[in-house]
Amino acid sequence: MEVTKQEKQSFARYKANNTIEEGDLVVMYLSKETMSIIRIKDGDYFNCKFGNYKHSDMIGLQYGTKLGSNTGRGFIYLLHPTPELWTLVLPHRTQILYIADISFVMNFLNLKPGMSMIESGTGSGSFSHSIARTLAPTGHLYTFEYHQERVNAAKKEFEDHGLSDMVTLECRDVCKNGFGLENKVDAIFLDLPAPWDAVASAKKAFKQDKIGKICTFSPCIEQISRTVTALNDEGFVDIQMYECLIRFNEIRVIPLWTIEQAMEKQRAVELKRKKATPRHMRENNTTEEETSAKKIKTESATAEESNPGTPASTATTTTNNSDSEMDDGAAIVIPKSETPSAASTPVLASEAKIETSTPTAAAAPRERIDPVNVVVTKLPVEQRGHTSYLMFATFTPQTQHPSLTQLNAEAAKSE
Ligand SMILES: C[S@@+](CC[C@H](N)C(=O)[O-])C[C@H]1O[C@@H](n2cnc3c(N)ncnc32)[C@H](O)[C@@H]1O
Repeated sequence: MEVTKQEKQSFARYKANNTIEEGDLVVMYLSKETMSIIRIKDGDYFNCKFGNYKHSDMIGLQYGTKLGSNTGRGFIYLLHPTPELWTLVLPHRTQILYIADISFVMNFLNLKPGMSMIESGTGSGSFSHSIARTLAPTGHLYTFEYHQERVNAAKKEFEDHGLSDMVTLECRDVCKNGFGLENKVDAIFLDLPAPWDAVASAKKAFKQDKIGKICTFSPCIEQISRTVTALNDEGFVDIQMYECLIRFNEIRVIPLWTIEQAMEKQRAVELKRKKATPRHMRENNTTEEETSAKKIKTESATAEESNPGTPASTATTTTNNSDSEMDDGAAIVIPKSETPSAASTPVLASEAKIETSTPTAAAAPRERIDPVNVVVTKLPVEQRGHTSYLMFATFTPQTQHPSLTQLNAEAAKSE
C-alpha cells in the first residue's frame, strides 16, 4: 500500500490538501471571543460548553468544517491556524501587538516577501508570526530577546509552527550589545522600553546601499522624545509618529417580524406551554387562553398607537434570536462516532435524528414563519483605546554623514 507522507504544517501558508491530520494544530472557533488551539491526537478530547469532541472525529475533515457537538447544544468551526488567529489564542508571556498595530506597521515598513528584517524584543512572538508569514518563503526575520525563558518558549513555537527555517531567534540584550548584524536588513521594528539605545546599532544593520524603514513602538511620549533625538542624531529622515486606534462595529443579521408574525409566534409559545402543563395542574384552561388573547390584543393596540396610520399587520418588531455568531446556515457535520448507525462517514445535521421535545410537550405541527432579515450595526460599550505611539523613520544612504553624537564626541576629545 502506498503511504502518503504527511505535509508539514506551517503558519506561513495553508496546507495544500486542506485536511486535518494527526499531529496538526487546529483552532477551535466557538465565537469571536471564545477560541483555543489544540494539537490533534487520536484518543484525546476537546471539552467545551457545547460538549466533548473526539480528536479522532476531526481527522480527515477539511479545515473550515462546522462540527456539531454530541449534545446537540452547539457547533464549532475547525480552522487552520494563521498569524491573525495565533495573536488571539497565544499564551501571553508579555504584552503583545494586536492586529490593528500589526497591519499598520507592516504596511508602513513596506514589508514584502523576500525581505529581511530585525525585530526586538520577541516577547510572546505575536508580531513575529505575522512578519514571518509576510516575508515567506524566501525572506528572513532576525528576532532578539534578552529574557532566556521567553527565548526558549518562542523558539519552540517557531519550530512547532513551521517557521524556524526563516526565523533566527537570539538571546541578546540589544541595547547593551547591539544586533551584531551589518549591512543585512531592509526593515527594523523595536518594541523595547529604551529603543533609543538600539538606534545606532540599527543604523549599521540596514543594507547600506538601499532605503530602509524603522519603527519603534512606545506607550509614553517621553520615550518617543528620546527616540526622535537618537534618530535625528543618526541621520534618519522622514520621522513621523502615529497612534492607531481601532473602533469595532458589530454587524448582526436580525429578523424583522411583522406584528402578525410576532402574534403567531406568541400563540404557538402559549399553546406549547399549555400542552406541556399536565392536565391536573391546569386550573382554568379558559382563563389562560383568555389571558394570552388579551395580551396579544394589547400588544397589537400599542403597535397601532405607536405607528399611527400603520395597520397592525404591516407594523414591524425585531427580535434578536441569533444564538451563534457564525450561524451562517452552512451544513453542520455531526461527529461520526456520535451517529446512531456509527456510519463511517460524518452525516449532515439535517439528516441526523435529534430529539427536541418531551412526550408531554409534543408541539402540534405548525407552519414555519420566515421573517425578513435585516442587517444592523452595533457599537460595543467597550472600546479599545491607546496602545502605543508608532514612530517611523527612514534610513537612506544619501544622508549618512557622521552623526551629531559622533561629532560631539570628536569635538569633546579634541578640546
Ligand atoms: C512588549 S514585549 C514585545 C512583545 C512583542 N512585540 C509581541 O508582539 O509579542 C517587549 C520584550 O522586549 C524584551 N526586551 C526588553 N529590553 C530588551 C533588550 N534590551 N534586549 C532584548 N530584549 C529586550 C522584553 O523582555 C520583552 O519580552
